[in-house]
Formats: sequence, structure tokens, C-alpha cells
Amino acid sequence: MKELSFFGNYKVKIVFTKEIFPLLKEKNQREKICITDENLYRIYGDRLEEIFGKNIFRISPGEKSKNMGVVLKILEFLCEKRVSRRGKIFGFGGGVVGDITGFVSGIYKRGIEFSLIPTSLISFVDSSIGGKCGINLKNCGKNYVGLFNHPSEIFFDFSLLSTLPQKEVNNGLFELIKYGFVLEKSILETFEGNLTQSELKKLIKISIQKKISVVIEDEKEMGIRKVLNFGHTFGHALEKVSNYSLYSHGEAVGLGMIYALILGKNLNITDEEYLKRGIYLIKKINGLKLKRKHRWENLLNSMSMDKKVDRENSLLFVLTPTPGNFLFKEINDFTILKKTYGEFLKWI
Ligand code: GLY
Repeated sequence: MKELSFFGNYKVKIVFTKEIFPLLKEKNQREKICITDENLYRIYGDRLEEIFGKNIFRISPGEKSKNMGVVLKILEFLCEKRVSRRGKIFGFGGGVVGDITGFVSGIYKRGIEFSLIPTSLISFVDSSIGGKCGINLKNCGKNYVGLFNHPSEIFFDFSLLSTLPQKEVNNGLFELIKYGFVLEKSILETFEGNLTQSELKKLIKISIQKKISVVIEDEKEMGIRKVLNFGHTFGHALEKVSNYSLYSHGEAVGLGMIYALILGKNLNITDEEYLKRGIYLIKKINGLKLKRKHRWENLLNSMSMDKKVDRENSLLFVLTPTPGNFLFKEINDFTILKKTYGEFLKWI
């Protein structure tokens, strides 16, 4: 087991391990509860039962599980199992499991400890780090209700990524390339070639470091942390108008980054060459397509409802002037956004 603590003031213990199951078994914890999803349970159920016995709560995989109904069922499960405030929850899964685990741990008996074991690429490079735990509200938007609640440890075991379907890998690659556009241009350079397993591992570690350094600087997203929302303003709107059923989160962010690049070009922030290179690299991941021609009015309405909007009649976009750099732009002239959507439809 190797413990990395490259960031002294990030309070979460980061553990890189090649043996997650023996490590969890060793943990001398009295009341251990696991939250995972049905897909993961099918693959790892026996190993999880050796550690957690019957203290495993399984959710249906996917974004639709991030709702208050599921949260309530888990709270009742914890109560039935008589979990005390000294208990600890282990979230074994991707972003959805991580969000739900952090949320439930933050409110059960006013807060109990939790750890995360990310199993998807997207949770390795983004969602497991930074303490955001959000639940969707049907008519309002994604992650509308939530907490900043950090796990005590995050265990990264790369072997868990080996069972991921390609679709899930792609999902994470979109979040990974995001760091290339706004924070670390060498990531874009690596994406130019054919990504090998060892390069991917290296990129994952860079992303983890980048994410931690942003979170240390601005935990509550009052400033620089907003950079991580590159591609998310439009991406979240796509997810919402399609009722979370047409696009994975990564795909929506991929499309959102294309939208942000075109918007940057229309505002004379991103030049034509960078725009073309950026769209080429994003589409190289899986040849992204818009699944339906969504009505502009619905998309705009969803963007305006996004919880990240804090000023009426204006939307904040993260744009990229040059590879690895970013700037924030508040837009209150929505005609440019509509024009950008028209161009976006031609690029896609
Ligand atoms: N996923 C964006 C953030 O954690 O701030």
C-alpha cells in the first residue's frame, strides 16, 4: 500500500493501493456499511460480502438514483442496522454512489464518517475529490440539493478500472481532457496520439493532483473552482432537457466543451485553429453526437435554472483563450448564446 500526501493541507487521506479488498478487510472498524450499485455488486458482490456481510445497500446504477427517495431508503437502512455515530460508510462506486454516500453520511445523525472507493474513470479524476455531494431535484436541476462533505479517505485502485465498459471509460475521458483545456495543456498533447494504458494512468494522476490543488484553493467554489465547470453550463442543460436519459454526464460535458469553444470563438477569445483542434480532440474520444435537436428555449431555460447561476439575467461561462488557460465570462446578451447554438448544430 502506498499513501500519497502530496498536498499537506488537503485533509483527505489519499491512498493508492493495488489490493483494495484485503485493505478494506484489515480496517478495524466496528460498524462498516457499504453503498454500491447493482452492476458493481454483480462483479464484486462476493468480495464485498466478505468485508461487509449483509451491511450492503445496492442502488440502481445511473443518475436517476440521485434522488431523495433513494436517500430516504438508505437512511432507513442505516437506522434498521442500528448504525451509531461511530459507524462508517464506504461508497464503492462511481460518481452517483459517491454523491449519495457523501450526502447520506452528512445528514445521518448529523453526520458520520465515510470513505470513497472510486470505481469509474470519472470518479477517479473528478467526482471523488472535492467534497461535493449533490442530489437532483426533478423540476429544478442537477445536484440542486447537497453538501460539501469530505470523505476521510479515498482509495484509488487502478485494477477496478479494468472491468469498465468502453462507454464508461469514454465518459471519464471527457472529464479528463477538460483539465487539458483549462489547466494543463500537456494533457491535450497526450490526447493527440493513441492513449496507452500507462499514459492514461499518468494523466489520471495529474488530474487528481490538479483537482486537489484547485479544491485546496477554493473549496466552496467562490472563485477558481468554477474553472472545473468548463463545458458544464451547457452540458448540465443537455442532461436536464433530456431527463438524464440521452447522454452520460461525460458526453454532455463533451458537447458542452464544444459549445464553450465555439462561444469563445464568437467572443474573439478562442482562435479558429484552437477551436478546430479542440473539437477534433473531443470528438476523437467517441465521435460525439447530439441525440436530438433540442429546442433552444428549453436549453436556455435550463441553463438559467442551474444552481450555479447566482446573478439574474446573466450566465457565467468558463472559456479557454489558449490551451491550458481559462477565463470566466459573464454573458447577459443571450443572442450570442443562441447564435452559438446554431453553429454548434453544424459542428456536431
Ligand atoms: N466537478 C466539479 C467540481 O468538483 O467542482
